[in-house]
Amino acid sequence: MIKVDSIKDIRKLLVNEKNIAFVPTMGNLHEGHLSLVDIASSASKAVVVSIFINPTQFSSSKDLKDYPKTPDKDIKLLKKYKNLIIFMPSIEEIYPENTNKKYELPPIANELCGRTRPGHFNGVITIIDKLFSLVNPQIVIFGKKDYQQLLIVKMFTKKNYPKIKVIGGATIRDKNGLALSSRNNLYEEKQLINASNLYKELQNIVNQIKSSHNNNNSNIIDRSTRKLESLGWEIEYIEIRKASDLSEPLSKDSLLVILGAGKFKDIRLIDSIEFCIGQPN
Ligand code: PAF
Repeated sequence: MIKVDSIKDIRKLLVNEKNIAFVPTMGNLHEGHLSLVDIASSASKAVVVSIFINPTQFSSSKDLKDYPKTPDKDIKLLKKYKNLIIFMPSIEEIYPENTNKKYELPPIANELCGRTRPGHFNGVITIIDKLFSLVNPQIVIFGKKDYQQLLIVKMFTKKNYPKIKVIGGATIRDKNGLALSSRNNLYEEKQLINASNLYKELQNIVNQIKSSHNNNNSNIIDRSTRKLESLGWEIEYIEIRKASDLSEPLSKDSLLVILGAGKFKDIRLIDSIEFCIGQPN
């Protein structure tokens, strides 16, 4: 494992690499991230993990300040990977000028999380564009937990970096079903079980939809939303979309995803579950 901080050094290290697998992260690594690094390691001998808390994707300076930062622990966790390069640049290295580039993103970037976090996906794409052109990977692995991010990155990559293959890694969960996330570290241990209620309700909705013979999902979703609210959640959205592009599903669509976002104890969590109804088309 080797760690570099500068653009000059990462360029030098990668100049002769032809098959790079890349895992972009914002650090505070957990088993979810490591599962993505495992996918990268089995795909290529040269693996790059970036650790960079990207300010352009945060809408509030408090959220950016509170984001958990554990660089030493992150480096320790990655030590077991032999051929790994950690790229850990400073903000000045990545944004020497005050970048405010506006990307033309698909309409889905303004829906779901994009509705309550305006500019968030523009910020994600800003850093992804910079990192892709620097690292020049063949394969990039993102977690499916951030399902909307994964699809927006896939759409951007298809258009702008057609040679890069974007892979979604499965969501890793704790024993209660809570999706592993850096933000979980902001909870006290005893609050984690309540934080898993979002996942439990999403699963509950999926089970009801699968066993119900009518199409009225909105009643099922409303009931679960009210239940979560009674448990102290402030729900932003719970929606069912078509899994392949997050458009509103038509009755013939069978590969679906339920996505939810909300705040519990003032900490914002998101989750999603892919599921299938009827025969896949
Ligand atoms: O998912 C994340 O951790 C971030 O959004 C990413 C993809 C590393 C971009 O900063």
